[in-house]
Amino acid sequence: MNKIKIMSVFGTRPDAIKMAPLVKILKKDNRFDSIVCVTGQHREMLDQVIDVFDIKPDYNLKIMKKSQTLQYITTSIMEKLGKVLDKECPDMILVHGDTATCLVSSLTSFYRKIPIGHVEAGLRTFDPYSPFPEEMNRKLVGSLATLHFCPTNSNYQNLLREGINKDNLIITGNTVIDALKTTITDNYTFSNDKLNQVDFTNKRVITLTAHRNENLGKPLEDICDAILEIANQFDDVLFVYAVHLNPAVMNVVYKKLDNHKNILLTKPLNVRDLHNLMNQSFMIMTDSGGLQEEAPSLGKPVLVLRKETERPEAIEAGTVKLSGVSKDNIVKDAIELLTNEEVYKQMSCAVNPYGDGQASKRIIDGIFSYFNKE
Ligand code: UD1
Ligand code: UDP
Repeated sequence: MNKIKIMSVFGTRPDAIKMAPLVKILKKDNRFDSIVCVTGQHREMLDQVIDVFDIKPDYNLKIMKKSQTLQYITTSIMEKLGKVLDKECPDMILVHGDTATCLVSSLTSFYRKIPIGHVEAGLRTFDPYSPFPEEMNRKLVGSLATLHFCPTNSNYQNLLREGINKDNLIITGNTVIDALKTTITDNYTFSNDKLNQVDFTNKRVITLTAHRNENLGKPLEDICDAILEIANQFDDVLFVYAVHLNPAVMNVVYKKLDNHKNILLTKPLNVRDLHNLMNQSFMIMTDSGGLQEEAPSLGKPVLVLRKETERPEAIEAGTVKLSGVSKDNIVKDAIELLTNEEVYKQMSCAVNPYGDGQASKRIIDGIFSYFNKE
């Protein structure tokens, strides 16, 4: 029997982390011929991931440029990926999530009638402008894809309601949990040496990330002001803020938060450092989707610095709270967790609505069944 030729396409930090476990098992499975094409929508932050997981892309479209626009990302990926697809003619492409890389790769593939497998399908906020453009990206890929790999039952129900044939929907769990199972270790030594100097015993460390598009400008300034206020009030707290390389993020964050004794600003951390930092932290504050999925299984409370989330499962389980982006609300929620042991205890029970670490296996078995239907 001929091998099934699968091309995995990704290009940003989060889709690389979440595709990595899948790429690893596809490569080992002799039912498949696996090709990896990275768009390079991110550069340094993508390289960090492929280094940690030791992935050697067959193609790198290297499209990133400073302060790139959506239009630029769209046209450059379509142009370059089209040539790769025409050369390789895969049986299916696999894309992840809601990024521009995901949408444009799907559309480029659809134009060639190459089936699309969508990993992390079916998450919705139902607001087309939030997250922007990710909500619409994910929804459009839902219309283009042939197979939909849903992390949770509620993602599955969203797609059923949108009229997707249930034979093409598979609940898999989230591959981020597969990744997390490979990165956390006891007595971890950080590769970023600044983290080896952190006093995790006497300080309550708060892992912080904030960089989403819809938070740029005033919301990010308000988030920084909230962090400053908390850092001024609690001397036993240390924020570790892994700052995204987007100039629109770095300019604000370094201006407002640099040189405070209770705030450590770092470059983007490699994923092993970030996961182990979370694992040793008191709590997490973030606007990231991935951290909202990772932290609950580590038993760490999460304050989400966004007005909405497409990931309601951990909120329902009680370990994640939507704090929004207003300074007062963020400060209030953080102070509650820092001063009320009961609330802290309730939010720090480990729950894992996002899977058992076997999502990648379910995905490749689903692909195999699709190609071997009667
Ligand atoms: C993108 C995704 C977002 C995802 C986020 C993860 C889209 C539309 N947005 O947003 O869904 O949550 O990635 O981080 O796909 N930069 C570097 N080096 C890097 C990466 C970025 O310098 O390795 C800088 C560049 O100046 C770049 C800018 O950051 O132009 C923005 O990158 P971009 O991918 O356009 O947007 P993100 O905000 O990262
Ligand atoms: N992450 C990382 N280094 C960092 C910050 C985040 O490796 O400095 C990881 C994090 O563990 C998660 C993913 O990157 O798996 C989230 O990426 P990001 O916040 O950029 O995107 P989002 O999840 O919001 O789409």
